[in-house]
Parts: sequence; C-alpha cells; structure tokens
Amino acid sequence: MSSPDRTAGRTSVSAADERILILDFGSQYAQLIARRVREQNVYCEIVRHDISLEAVRRRQPAGIILSGGPSSVYEPKAPRCDPGLFHLGVPVLGICYGMQLACDTLGGRVESAPAREYGRARCDIDSDADLFAGLPGHLDVWMSHGDQVTRVSDDFAPLAHTATCPITAVRHRSLPVFGLQFHPEVTHTPLGSTILHNFLTTICGCQGRWRLGDFARETIERMRERIGNGRVICGLSGGVDSAVTAALLYQAIGPRLSCILVDNGLLRKDEEAAVLAEFTHHFKADLHVVRAEERFLSTLAGVTDPQEKRRRIGHAFIDCFKEEAKKIQGVEFLAQGTLYPDVIESGAAPDGPAATIKLHHNVGGLPAELGFELVEPLRDLFKDEVRRLGLELGLSEDLVWRHPFPGPGLAVRCLGEITKPRLEILRAADEIVVSEIKAAGLYRQTAQAFVVLLPVRSVGVMGDARTYDEAVAVRCVNTDDFMTADWSRLPYDLLARISTRIINEVKGVNRVCYDISSKPPATIEWE
Ligand code: XMP
Repeated sequence: MSSPDRTAGRTSVSAADERILILDFGSQYAQLIARRVREQNVYCEIVRHDISLEAVRRRQPAGIILSGGPSSVYEPKAPRCDPGLFHLGVPVLGICYGMQLACDTLGGRVESAPAREYGRARCDIDSDADLFAGLPGHLDVWMSHGDQVTRVSDDFAPLAHTATCPITAVRHRSLPVFGLQFHPEVTHTPLGSTILHNFLTTICGCQGRWRLGDFARETIERMRERIGNGRVICGLSGGVDSAVTAALLYQAIGPRLSCILVDNGLLRKDEEAAVLAEFTHHFKADLHVVRAEERFLSTLAGVTDPQEKRRRIGHAFIDCFKEEAKKIQGVEFLAQGTLYPDVIESGAAPDGPAATIKLHHNVGGLPAELGFELVEPLRDLFKDEVRRLGLELGLSEDLVWRHPFPGPGLAVRCLGEITKPRLEILRAADEIVVSEIKAAGLYRQTAQAFVVLLPVRSVGVMGDARTYDEAVAVRCVNTDDFMTADWSRLPYDLLARISTRIINEVKGVNRVCYDISSKPPATIEWE
C-alpha cells in the first residue's frame, strides 16, 4: 500500500498498480464511471460499497471512487463504506452521494437541499489546483441530487460552488480525499473527463498504461495456468462474446478447447455457416454442431408465454450441452462469454452491487446446473472492448461487428406461437433489414436492428386480391450500453425500401411497422 502522506497526489505508480476501485452505492452511473476510467487506459473494477478494508488492501488500488446513490447519508440505514478507507493514504474521490458520505464521515453536514436539483448547472471554480487544474473558471455541470453538503469543518477546503449549492466540490486538507457534488462521468458535464483525468493522473499517479493487448496476453497466461491439462467446452452462439471467448481460449489451450454450437432452429439466417467458417477454417478448433431444431420446436410447440419460452429453451440448451459434453472426454470447465455489464446487472459479481436488474439474462443459471467449473475470461470487459479484443485475436470484422443476438434467439422475436413457417418468415424479413441497413452504411452506427413477428394478422390488398397476413415490426436502436436505448432515426427512404422489400419478397407478410419506443420504458427485445 502506498504511503499515507499523499495529500495532493502521487508521482507515479507501476502499471500493475494502476487499478481504480469504484465503490457502488447504488448509482445508475457506476458503470459509466467505470467506462470513463477505462477510456483513460486505467483499469478499474466496480465493487460493493461495503467491501472490507482487507479486500481493498489486497487489490492495491491507486485510487478509489465513491459513486453516487439514491440514499441520504443521514438516514439510519444509509449505505456507508468502512471509514478506514479514508485513512489508507489512497486518494478517494466521492461523487454526489460519495462526496456527501466523505464529508459526513470526516466532519461536514449534509442536509436536504431546498429544492431537488436535477439537470444542468453552472459551476464556479474557486480553486484551480488538483481536480480543476487546466480548466476554465466556470463549468457546465450535471447535477442530480436532493441533499447537499451545507457545512464542512476546517479540515476541508471548498473548491467550487453554484448558485444553489455553496459547496459543489471539496478537498480534505490533510487526507487525499476529494468530492464533487455533480457528475463528471456524464456527457452533460462536457469537461468531466478532464476532471477525472486530473484525479487519475495528478492525484492517483496513474499513467494510463492499461492496454487490451496486455489484457489478452495476461488472460491467456492466466487461463493456461488455471486450466492446466484440463479440457474446456465453450458454447458458440454466433455472437461476438462467445466467439471472442473461444478465440482467447483457443490461443491458450489450442485443441483442448471444444466448441459446441447448438443449432436450435432459432438462429439468424446463415449464422451457423458463418460460425463454422470462422472456427473450422480460421481457428481449426474442435467444433461440435448439435442438430436440435426438432427438439427445440417440439418443446416450444403451443407455448406463447415469453417466460415459459425462455424457461423451456434454457432447459433444452442444458440437455443438449450435457449430452454433447458427455461425448467429449475429460471436460472440467465451461467457458462463457459473460461481460462486465452482465456481471453487474445480474448482481452476480462476488463484490458487485446487490440489485438484480435483468432476471431474464442467462448469467449464472446455466453453468451451475451443468456441473462444470466456470471460465469467464471477458468478465472484466465492456462490449466495445470485447470487439477490439476480437480484432486483435484475428476474428473477422464481420463477426466482430455483428449485432448482439439474445440467447433464446428468434424465439423471443416470434411473438405468439413458434412454428417453423413463422420462423422462416421472420428469418427472411430479418435478413432484408440487416442487409438494407448494411447497404446504407448504417450497420455499425446501429446497435441492434432486427424484425419482430407480431401475433397479429391484418387485412391488405395485393394485386386485386384481399390478403389477411402477418404483420412485422422493425426494431432498430442506438445505444452504447444496452441498458438504455433510443430508436434509430433511420432515413425514410431506407424505411420505405425495407418495407417494400419485406412485403414483396416475404410471402405471408402484408404489413411492416417501425418501433419508435425507447428503453426505458420499453425494452429492446419485445419478449
Ligand atoms: P432488453 O430486451 O432487456 O435487452 O432491453 C438488452 C440486450 O440484451 C439482449 N438480450 C439477451 N441476451 N440472453 C441474452 O444473451 C437473453 O435472454 C437476452 N434477452 C435480451 C438483447 O438482445 C439486448 O442486446
């Protein structure tokens, strides 16, 4: 651990020490803070707010960030961190609730503000050292708080104020503890990344040396050590996460990796062929394709309830895996492409925040039942990092940039009953949407583009004949993190081409709608 006399900062730390811990007090922005730190090439982890001092020490962080949160520090059950954290000599930056907690713990008063402040504010900087070095005297900042620090002891120096918040930023005079009432991590604080940069470099001494290439090398090495002479199976879904997981493991253990692709009849058009090409030609991995379309369609026959569909698909997957894995001698490990947001959202991280946001996602459920030891080499990465890593590992651009596809596949996009003819309609329409968006050069800007087959039929007229056919919805969204999303403002001409082609080319469809709901309150998938 570093010496306790770092009040204004550190001169340098080694690359291995360049780890920032983000203590999560229930903030909706904890992940965003992590992204901003990683963007500066500094490795970071989100951990529970009540992490023990011992666990913090073991991780040897270069700095600690206390996130915001919905609570009031003066409430008896408010989440608190171990107060010893402020005396470790490791720089601490409290953001919003984090600042209130730091002040409350070290000698300040936090009270309910006269009015809840939410939105843009103009912040006047009273001290341009440390956090605000190199910044102008006035900043646009984003506020989101009901409480604020109203008084601090002489141990603190106020650094900034706004018209309604007299202490908008502080630093402790003898401990390396800083606080910001506003959110530097959101884009509405345009110079927020400079403030974080100041914290990470000048105050914590980080040099921004974390690189994905290092991550790949270290992870491959770690996997080799952990797996030894064991054998790993990895499910391939056609998506980028499982592909990168497999590519990484292939580099680590070569032929002792066996990949299993379950052809469940719910994949997108040409998905299976693309995976086969990548993993037999490029990586020459041991690839097993399980033909299970009949099995999945029969277990789904007549089922319309979304949760029941997912449940049955989950069980069928497990059975397919178990059966195939039995044919492969000596399997001890199961590799899974769990990403950092999955870990955080599912509350599955040992040190993660407790809230479970997405019950329906696959993290956690499958592997325990399978009885294998779990290997998740991507659990520290965000999606864009996984894509970059995929390219470094030699995966094709096509595969790496493919839009995410849910585990239960087209089943959750085929509303109502799932039958082979309906899946064929869906697949054909989906292929048109994706190819038109690609042709328009908008595929990479769009996070996800797909078709949903609705459980509705409507009247139309084709030639001189009346039709009574299926309706589809086109769903295209823009998002960075998939936790919030907005519908893509596709050009009308493109939408017109998509609609005309679907109705002309996909037999059985006579109506195309465009989904203009954002998430929240809608979700990206319809089921
Ligand atoms: P929602 O519909 O929750 O989706 O807004 C957010 C992202 O997650 C994907 N998704 C899934 N991925 N298994 C997965 O592996 C699932 O069961 C699942 N459900 C949704 C969805 O496609 C989007 O990218």
